[in-house]
Order: sequence, then C-alpha cells, then structure tokens
Amino acid sequence: MCGIVAVTGYKKALPLLINGLEKLEYRGYDSAGIAVISSETKNIVCNKAEGKLNNLKNNLKNAEIPGTVGIGHTRWATHGKPEVKNAHPHLDSLGKVAVVQNGIIENYQELKSKLEKEGISFDSDTDTEVIPHLIQKELIALSQLNLENNGSTLLVAVRNVISDLEGSYALAVIWSGAPDSLVVARRQAPLIIGLGEGEFICASDTPAIASFTKIILPLEDGEIALLTPLGIEIYDSNNERQYRNPISLQIAEQVIDKNNFRHYMLKEIYDQPEIAKYWLEKYLIKDLKTSKFQIKYPFDTKFFESIERIEIVACGTSKHAAMVGKFLLEQFSGIPTNVFFASEFRYSPPPLLPNTLTIGVTQSGETADTIAAIKMEIQRRASMGDESYKPNLVAITNRIESSIGRQISNIIDIGAGIEIGVAATKTFFAQLLSFYGLAIKFAQIKQSQSNETISQLISELTKLPPLVEELLEKHNQSSEKLAHEFFNIKDVIFLGRGINYPIALEGALKLKEISYIHAAGYPAGEMKHGPIALLDKKVPVISIAFPGEVFDKVISNAQEAKARDAYLIGVAPKCKGTEIFDYLMAIPSTNEWISPLLAIVPLQLLSYHIAAHRGLDVDQPRNLAKSVTVE
Ligand code: F6R
Repeated sequence: MCGIVAVTGYKKALPLLINGLEKLEYRGYDSAGIAVISSETKNIVCNKAEGKLNNLKNNLKNAEIPGTVGIGHTRWATHGKPEVKNAHPHLDSLGKVAVVQNGIIENYQELKSKLEKEGISFDSDTDTEVIPHLIQKELIALSQLNLENNGSTLLVAVRNVISDLEGSYALAVIWSGAPDSLVVARRQAPLIIGLGEGEFICASDTPAIASFTKIILPLEDGEIALLTPLGIEIYDSNNERQYRNPISLQIAEQVIDKNNFRHYMLKEIYDQPEIAKYWLEKYLIKDLKTSKFQIKYPFDTKFFESIERIEIVACGTSKHAAMVGKFLLEQFSGIPTNVFFASEFRYSPPPLLPNTLTIGVTQSGETADTIAAIKMEIQRRASMGDESYKPNLVAITNRIESSIGRQISNIIDIGAGIEIGVAATKTFFAQLLSFYGLAIKFAQIKQSQSNETISQLISELTKLPPLVEELLEKHNQSSEKLAHEFFNIKDVIFLGRGINYPIALEGALKLKEISYIHAAGYPAGEMKHGPIALLDKKVPVISIAFPGEVFDKVISNAQEAKARDAYLIGVAPKCKGTEIFDYLMAIPSTNEWISPLLAIVPLQLLSYHIAAHRGLDVDQPRNLAKSVTVE
C-alpha cells in the first residue's frame, strides 16, 4: 500500500528518496513521485509517474536536483485512478507546499467544496490534495501575524490543518518558505523517524530506513514532528513537547535478494524449511531435568493459566492461519476459540466475556483493521474495571517493530524474514507454526491431551524441515507441468474439511490473488448445498484429503464432484481412496494434526506456476498491497 519517504539533512535528497522508495516497492503501488526543495532556486521541484518506480527513475535520469530536503511516495490508488495527476506529492496552487499522505481523509469532500468556493481549483481526484491547499491558506493567515518563514511556522500551519482532518493518515510536508524543514504527522497510520548522521529520514515502513540507520524514533499516534538538520521536535495531540530516547531497529538490514529464483514468491516458498528450523530452534526448548520439550516465549505466560476462551482477530491469509489455530486450540487444547475478520470485529464485536485471551495476527503488524480491532478491544475491556475482563493480549507478527509490536507487549515473532512477494506464503507457514506452539502450551496447561499425545505432536513437528524440502523437490516441476494444462481455466473449487478447511480457503486465495482466476474454497461437506451447481468439466476441483476422522467424507464429496465431470486434483498422501483423483499432488503421510503445514506447499507452488505461466506480475499482483494501512 502507499509508502512515504522523507528526508532532511546535508546529503542530496533525491538518491535517498529513490533508494527509500525502492525499499517500499514490495508493499504494492501503482504510481510514484518525489518533490525536492532546490537549494539553488528554493523552489519545489516535483516529478511523478504512473506505474512502476522505473518510470519515475526514467523521468529523472538526467535530472540534477540540488537539494537536501524532499519527500517521496508510492501510491496505491484509493481516491482517483492510478494516473500521474493523482500520484503524490500534491502541491498547493502556488507550488510552494508539497505533501505526501498515506491513509484516507474522510471529510475531504466537504473541505474540497469549501476551498473550491474560495476559488481554489484542484488538479487531482485525490483526498490528499486538500491538505497542501489548506496548509498554504494557513501559512498566508500566519504571515499576517508577522511570523517568520521557518520550520516552526510550517509546524503551526500543519497542526492547525490536521485538527480539521477526519480519518487516518500519515503525512510529510515541505514548504519552500522553510527550505531546511520537514514536518511529519500521523494518526492511525505508521511513521518512523530514522536518525542518521546529520540526516533524518522518515518513512512509513522500516525497510526504507534499515539501510540508512538502525537508530529510530517511531512517531506515536496523534504526534506531529518538525525535522531540520539540527534536530527533531515532537509534539503530542495536546501540543505538549515529547522527549524520549531513540530505540534501535530490531531487524537485520533487510536482505532483499531473489537468490536466482525467478520471483520472490518462489524463493519465499522455498524459504519454508528454514523457517521450520528457525521455529524449532527458537521456540521448542528441551527441559534438561525432565527431557521434555517446552514452548518458550519471550514473555511471562503465567496469565495463560486463567484463560478460559480465546478470540482471534486477523485479515486475509492471517485469518486463514488463525482458523487453523482455532481448530488446534479447540480440538487439541480444549479452549473455546473464535476467529473474527478484524474489519467486522471492530464494528460488531461479540459481547464481552471474562478471562479471554485476545490474539492479533498480522504479518505486517500494520493492517489498519487489525490494529483498530485490537485497540477497540483494549479500550472496551479496560473500561469494564473488572479484573476478570481485563485485556489479555498476544500478537503474532513478522514485524515486531511495527504498530502491533508497540500496541501489545506479548509478541510471538514468527521470524520469517521480510516477505517481498505480496502474496503471503512463508509468513502463513510461520503463523501456522506459532499456533502449534500456542496449542501445545495450552494443552500442557489445561492437560487436555496426554503427555504422550503432546510429545507425539512435538516429535512430528521436529520432522518438518526435511518433509517440506521433500515436498518442494517433488512438486515444483510437476506443478509447473500441471500449470501448463490449467493456465487457461476460469474457475477452480478448493475443498477441505476439519483442520484443512482453512487450507482450502488459503489455496483459493493464493490462486485468485496472483493469477486472477476465480477460485473459492469450501468445507467439502457444504459443496452439495450450492456450489455443486457450478461444476462441469471446465471447473477443476482440488480436494485436500488426509487420512483421519474426515478422510472418507472428503473422498465421497470429491466423488460427487467427479460425477459432475469435474477434473479432480487431490492433495493427499498416496493411499487407498486417492485413486479417485485424476491427478494426485502427493504429500507425506504423517500425523493429521500437522497436515496443514504440508498440504499448503503444493497449493502455493501450483498457484505460483499458473500465475507465472500466464506471464503475470507474480510478486506485485494488480490492485493488491502488502500492508493494508487503510480501512
Ligand atoms: C494474501 C495476503 C493478505 C494479507 C492481509 C493481512 O496473500 O497477503 O490477505 O494476509 O492483507 O495482512 P497482515 O497479515 O499483514 O495483517
């Protein structure tokens, strides 16, 4: 989704901005732009391009823009099509103020109409453009008070303007009247300041900062800051000056390397055995006294003992991981668990119940709906004033330095490393592992399973890395071949039951988001209640069938599809019953509990190869964003 980079200091701004924007490309965007205050003319030089960052770089190929203060943006269209006129930065009519913004200004129509009545004409269809016009108006008003043209005046003008804005945003503003100053502000959208040597860089996401500095100051919700080469002034929403120490960025410099893979997505699918090893080493600790394995988290889990139920909020792929988590937590650990779309939960939460653990699952740690749902839950629980209703929180994330990491202190770091492909693969796998950890921990606390059953699950998990490697070896080429046959299909149905129903949903999501083929996942038993009407020989059905409680049921549901001429693909171990499939993507026969961790791998590969074969932009599918920071 949209990305912001802004700099002030002594070095040339343009290369720093372009470098920062390159690091934000993975988030998904459809236009890009920069604005720099020229140190020669003191005017703002702005350049924008539709499409990829390369188009902007081409525009700027021979441009020499001397200037050390600037802002840059990658835009993911919300208000207005992805066209140059709607790309950021946006300028006021005098060309003196430039603004980049992430978020949505909900009352922009009202503000725009007022400005238009005053004679201001707009160049774009965006919500953002009201901001530079309003700031310019404010600066003109302030000049009548004989305030100097400097950063402090810009700060006052921006503060006055944002008090009239509704919605959530992060923004960065430059003004030719204060050519060394940069003002940044945020409300419910992330913004982080990186402290370099004689240089400040501000960005909406850490990869844009990581290669520049490891010392950061995350801006808190509602704060505004003035940055000049001499220092930073931060103010809260009550205009109180804030003083706090910088912290160090908890991520290694992000290695963004495809390692000879054609796409990041394929590389990330291949990262999964390493992620399993990392998880086993980090979270599974052998107790030297008892020789038993324990799940070890970097926070005190004593409060888990009083937990009677769990609620999980998440979106998209993270929600699918949470649904596997629900199955494990209920069926293995015996704890009633509910999973909610964060976007639904925040406006229609269930009635409060005591002794509840709330888990937020978000790989990016920035998904606006998930962050807002957690915030709302913290507030409504805190307002009960009853100890048993207090918020008990855990976050499962890949980005501990993100907004969710600052909201919740009990963090399970999935440690998957940065994921560049917009379609989540390795982070889904790592989120699943986190739920296995939680299920084991709760099963031990609640004694819902015998020690032998728990040890057996742990032992199966320890075998994962070679099993996943084997799956990759076995299915990469074969799914590429299958993709050749299927790249032209229009609809695919995915079926699963029990613990693998969420895998059917995730398989369908992966296929549709990168290949633009319509796909839907169903609990296999539901097919006959409607979706079966879709079936004919043009609609392949992919069934996940794993020996266990519901195996025979899934096979007979697949049979029903075959009777309607559907081409059947099975994701199942080679065993009796699976001869029904026209094509078998064989997975190892292990304990059913861990089958989701295996079944997802061939489905990821198949989606990848279908999209690659269709010649699509696998890593940055159209309209999608890696981190969805708007509602
Ligand atoms: C799908 C995908 C999205 C995300 C969703 C939530 O491949 O990546 O569905 O899972 O936008 O994102 P996070 O996990 O960052 O909250």
